[in-house]
Amino acid sequence: MNFWFVCKACAKATEFQLKQSKCTCGGTLQVEYDLERVGHTFTKESLKNRVTSMWRYKELLPVENPQNIISLGEGWTPLVRMHRAEQKYPVKRLWVKREEQNPTGSFKARGFSSALSIANAYGIKKVAVNSNGNAASALAAYASNSGMDSYVFVPKDCPGLIIEECIQYGAQTYLVDGLIHNAGKVIEDGELEQDWYNVGTLKEPGRSEGKKTMGLELAEQFNWTLPDVIIYPTGGGSGVIGIWNALNQLKELGFIEGDLPRIVSVQEEGCQPLVDAIENGTAFNAQTQDISSNPTGMRVPNPPDGELILSILRESGGTAVAVSEEDIKEAQTSLGKQGISSSPEGAATWAAFTSLIDRGWIQQDDEVVLFNTSHALKYLAWDQTQAPIIETYKDMVNSSVMI
Ligand SMILES: Cc1ncc(COP(=O)(O)O)c(C=O)c1O
Ligand SMILES: [Zn+2]
Repeated sequence: MNFWFVCKACAKATEFQLKQSKCTCGGTLQVEYDLERVGHTFTKESLKNRVTSMWRYKELLPVENPQNIISLGEGWTPLVRMHRAEQKYPVKRLWVKREEQNPTGSFKARGFSSALSIANAYGIKKVAVNSNGNAASALAAYASNSGMDSYVFVPKDCPGLIIEECIQYGAQTYLVDGLIHNAGKVIEDGELEQDWYNVGTLKEPGRSEGKKTMGLELAEQFNWTLPDVIIYPTGGGSGVIGIWNALNQLKELGFIEGDLPRIVSVQEEGCQPLVDAIENGTAFNAQTQDISSNPTGMRVPNPPDGELILSILRESGGTAVAVSEEDIKEAQTSLGKQGISSSPEGAATWAAFTSLIDRGWIQQDDEVVLFNTSHALKYLAWDQTQAPIIETYKDMVNSSVMI
């Protein structure tokens, strides 16, 4: 194989395996590639004639046989310049990466395209995910496209249209009376009995590899120069982790040079464990109380590897910013008035941008990219969903509601 695992904590290399995500030392496993070999076919020139989806970067994705690829056309999303905003704010250039243009309306499509392509290569037939919403509908779509059965578990306050979307894509859909980690526990408890392949954040190697393509694409769209600042709405962190891995791999391949962008995580005030750690200069601590953040995508009080996210923010010279629900609403309107439909999470990047300008953290000679991770339309009020509400795996088994 052209790729293998390396532990982010102890640097031990091991064989690539389907269900692995943690090293014996507890560190997160990440996929590494034989970059010298990759460089034989993966050249700037070769990219000019490739498919306009994330699979244009196939050498940097852990799928050996292209026949196993499950694709709905994810990636190669527009990067748009915000000319009017540039006149108003002291910034060199401002861009929005329009991830809401992906299949299923969010950046999550990328991770599931790669995760399910790997699963497909290994003959997996039954997949499950705990999610705050967008990952669930993405899994549902890719599973159906590849002929797998999908089970999704989302907090019961997940946006109704996203729940509806999961049902439309044919997923067995459950609303969990709790947060994303409670939904994860349902899967862990049923995993053996149900023979589910757990595609939860950092439970398998594929999702963060797929998200890596956001970084690869950004660099290519910038013609192999990089912006100064990337602002990303952060929950479980695999977006940030993926982008960072991408930029480092490109550097090693000799595609880019110089400093990498400062990475900024934006969170909402009601769930801001990364912001707390950055502001206090401490190690990562899960938030255990007063978890109230409304944009569900960023409501992850205890991500699988908070320390890894923090190390990226720090190493890049970035930061973490908290914004209020009110800021997010205003930001959604501001982006709307500039022609961009944004989910609350995507809009949070605009709120963070203006806050960092006010603080003088973003300066006149900075080129900034905001990641609009999902679409406003998925968050409209909707109350017709008919999915069972459960608390435990036992409730799920006893649930008589068939979708
Ligand atoms: C729209 C949106 N933005 C951002 C995030 C957070 O992304 P990550 O889990 O990669 O930190 C999510 C996760 O659910 C999301 O749905
Ligand atoms: Zn290790």
